[in-house]
Amino acid sequence: MTTIKKKALIIGAGTGGYPCAIRLGQLGADTLLVEKAKPGGVCLNVGCIPSKALISATKLYHKALHADGMGITFGPPKVDMNKMQSWKAGIVKKLTTGVQGLVKSNGSEYRQATAEFLEPHVVKLSYGDGKPDEVVQAEHIVIATGSLPLEIPGFEFDHKRILDSTSCLDLDYIPKSMVVIGGGYIGLELGQTFQRVGTKLTVLEGLDRILATMDPDLGQLVAKQIKADGGAIVTKAKALGWQEKQGQAVVQADVDGKPQEFSADVVLVSVGRRPITQGLAIERAGVNLDAKGFIQVDARLQTNVPGIYAVGDVVGQPMLAHKASHEGEIVAEVIAGKKTVNDARVIPAVVFTEPEIAIAGLTKEEAEAQGHEVVVGKFPFSVSGRALAINETTGFVKVIADAKDERLLGIHIVGPEASDLISEAALAIEMGAYVPDVSLTIHPHPTLGEAVMEAAKHAIGEAIHIQNTRKH
Ligand code: NAI
Repeated sequence: MTTIKKKALIIGAGTGGYPCAIRLGQLGADTLLVEKAKPGGVCLNVGCIPSKALISATKLYHKALHADGMGITFGPPKVDMNKMQSWKAGIVKKLTTGVQGLVKSNGSEYRQATAEFLEPHVVKLSYGDGKPDEVVQAEHIVIATGSLPLEIPGFEFDHKRILDSTSCLDLDYIPKSMVVIGGGYIGLELGQTFQRVGTKLTVLEGLDRILATMDPDLGQLVAKQIKADGGAIVTKAKALGWQEKQGQAVVQADVDGKPQEFSADVVLVSVGRRPITQGLAIERAGVNLDAKGFIQVDARLQTNVPGIYAVGDVVGQPMLAHKASHEGEIVAEVIAGKKTVNDARVIPAVVFTEPEIAIAGLTKEEAEAQGHEVVVGKFPFSVSGRALAINETTGFVKVIADAKDERLLGIHIVGPEASDLISEAALAIEMGAYVPDVSLTIHPHPTLGEAVMEAAKHAIGEAIHIQNTRKH
């Protein structure tokens, strides 16, 4: 076998691996990025991007259906799922092709191959198709292999009746009904995507509320919307198994101690994701995993083996594309000899539901648990001029701050364009801003961003467009 020598080898070209390769190229390190499937990983191929394409298309349909209040009526809009899928595939193709180009133009090498450790710093690359295997000796190796949907007993994915997020995103028809197991990010985003175009949605959530890790006020508005659109949310529901009956999947569940059945054309199982380390022969590298199989890393993303690093979903929560790419860039700088560490104060998260949810920093409960005396400011979109003008008034901005020194601890948004509004919050918290830094920043009018400023003003008793609850 031919042996190649490299300064850095990156395994996996998802949102963790490819930014790492680009940054290493920029820093002049001789770098090889290998990927066994397509560049772009879950996010670009079967996650964030294709889901957002379907979400925006079905939102347009839903808006057209409900525009009569604004004085516009259409004939009944029609959905051509095949055409929508081709449009989505075009976006994915454009972005994934772009990834290879970016890696090369920044000076790193990209190869399609399956990687397997032989020794800690020696990796075999298999190309298949009769092309001989090669060996790479690398001073630094970055594992960026991502994650896969979790399966639960009794619900093996057949991708016809029992879907994971990937097969759900590829549906070329609109199912009449869908049971979603797991009321988290994926289940709610994809469930609502199909609900908007007519699918009857039932969400089964094991805990006592959907989006259980977030401030309950946020998920409540999504639950309300799902119900308003004719869907159902069943909490304390544990799915036990399913049977095919009369062309439908009948799901048996334990709902708060009582057996219940739910029938649907398809069942989406979205109960979390697991790290991908199998097939890598990671034991030959000697890298430590935790009890759930995630790779353990330090603040510089280095594993217990010097010169071997890991980034993204494979190192654990939060499993978010932007966290992965940030980590990839940090590791590149570490490898290049810079004194960089992963010290992000805040990792924002967005759920692309209707209404959208976006969070940065601590909830009130988390802040109190950390010993803060907390002050909360809240501004509803129902009194925002811009929200009224775009006819999207559901939701609010909530600002959490320390009551004594007024330092910002968290901003939680549910409502229109929350996904874009949250970046201001992330910047403010990352920079250690205090409430007046946001409340005294002039926000342009009329914009949704004013709601962030008003919520900050409300936290210190200075709100202009709502009643203050606190005296300044
Ligand atoms: P999740 O962790 O968001 O939600 C899973 C839900 O399933 C939880 O509420 C859990 O209580 C429930 N659950 C677990 N076992 C169950 C059972 N047997 N019966 C009923 N309910 C059960 O996981 P999800 O939705 O699969 O997403 C995985 C990850 O992917 C997310 O944590 C997120 O990091 C990432 N993601 C991010 C997105 C974004 O940034 N917008 C979009 C989609 C996914």
